Amino acid sequence: MKKLKLKELESNLQQVDDFENPKLMLEQYPTRPHIAACMLYTIHHTFDDIEDKIIADLGCGCGMLSIGSAMLGAGLCIGFDIDADALEVFNRNAEEFELPNIDLVQCNVCSLSDKMPKTVDTVIMNPPFGTKHNKGMDMAFLNTALQMARTAVYSLHKTSTRQHIQKKADEWNVKMEVLAELRYDLPASYKFHKKKSVSINIYFKAKKLNCGLTTEPYANDL
Ligand SMILES: C[S@@+](CC[C@H](N)C(=O)[O-])C[C@H]1O[C@@H](n2cnc3c(N)ncnc32)[C@H](O)[C@@H]1O
Repeated sequence: MKKLKLKELESNLQQVDDFENPKLMLEQYPTRPHIAACMLYTIHHTFDDIEDKIIADLGCGCGMLSIGSAMLGAGLCIGFDIDADALEVFNRNAEEFELPNIDLVQCNVCSLSDKMPKTVDTVIMNPPFGTKHNKGMDMAFLNTALQMARTAVYSLHKTSTRQHIQKKADEWNVKMEVLAELRYDLPASYKFHKKKSVSINIYFKAKKLNCGLTTEPYANDL
């Protein structure tokens, strides 16, 4: 497989189609191509957790993170989402890029919890933050991800939840590291957004089960 440069990956991801009618209650915000590309590039080049690996993308939406992982040589990407409309767009995206090794599962991620222990190598996800009458959804996703992953979980979370997540990680006896903190431009996809875009703090969190990490900020341009 041809080695993709960061800029090429980002430019490919700019062609991934987005939610057609995003559903507020499911927090259907896509990961922006720049963030997705930097995140995936680092997971691949710094931690070697993508190439030839089985990847799960929980709350995969239209497939931004799975498609990027497949482009970087993942052995298999499995996208999980509750929403059939999002999965239809994901399917079209995967066909357009002619990417094999992608499977889609329609399900409630919270119902997976302990049903698939240690079945994938890596989980990469941008979960719902639990801000729309679905409090605790971010932690439910994280809990499921930690049970599914044999090696590592990479997940985006609001900075304001960092302390809470650290506390939970201690409780669950897993090692958590903040790999980067960045700004996230939210597109004005919902009517209640008065501004064209808003910024929220997000941090990119990783956990490795079996090895100690020396963590560097993952991209100079973030
Ligand atoms: C913030 S979006 C991220 C979408 C995509 N992963 C991305 O990075 O562009 C969260 C996704 O989680 C999905 N979702 C919300 N609640 C869910 C649940 N209980 N089970 C499965 N998927 C869910 C939504 O449909 C949405 O696609």
